[in-house]
Amino acid sequence: MPADDIQQLFQNNRLWAESVEREDPAFFTRLASGQSPKYLWIGCSDSRVPATTVTGLKPGEVFVLRNVANQVQQNDASAMSVVDFAVGTLGVRHILVCGHYGCGGVRAAMEGSAKGTLGQWVSNIQELWNTHENQLGNLDPDDAHARLCELNVRLQVRSLCQHASVRQAWEDGQALDIHGLIYALEDGRLRNLNLHVSSRTQADAFR
Ligand code: CO
Repeated sequence: MPADDIQQLFQNNRLWAESVEREDPAFFTRLASGQSPKYLWIGCSDSRVPATTVTGLKPGEVFVLRNVANQVQQNDASAMSVVDFAVGTLGVRHILVCGHYGCGGVRAAMEGSAKGTLGQWVSNIQELWNTHENQLGNLDPDDAHARLCELNVRLQVRSLCQHASVRQAWEDGQALDIHGLIYALEDGRLRNLNLHVSSRTQADAFR
């Protein structure tokens, strides 16, 4: 019954809050006074890749943007605002762009199966597939999909490199590193794609 589904969440929440307070009585008071997360996580909306759980971070430690296929689109007011606020106001030290293997958004782009708004949303990944289809088209479809998931992370890191707030931060001498990561649903492990950008010079050279 739907009411029970929701009731369960309230019960879970109460137990969680009580256990946090038992372990650290000042936890909520401290967080209520402000946040200064070190990380901005840009990940997929996929329910299997929750930022705090897979990184072992607690509330207050990571600012989060999640959307279908972990994208940083320049015309997306939500993404642009999140990056502005995280970099310009909170002054995060690291931005983690985290894709994942088995991404349905990437698969929809690859297969051309997404329609309407979702189709529009993943059209830049579809372009990415069209660009690389010559090389990737000969691979086993699952391998091709995995490579496209990685290339999508690269594409989003590149987009972030052009973001005004990010460039301004570097201009102002603020320490800010962008990292491209990918998560494997099969084993729960994050892998570093070694897509690392920490200055304007590196950003301009990043392809
Ligand atoms: Co996904």
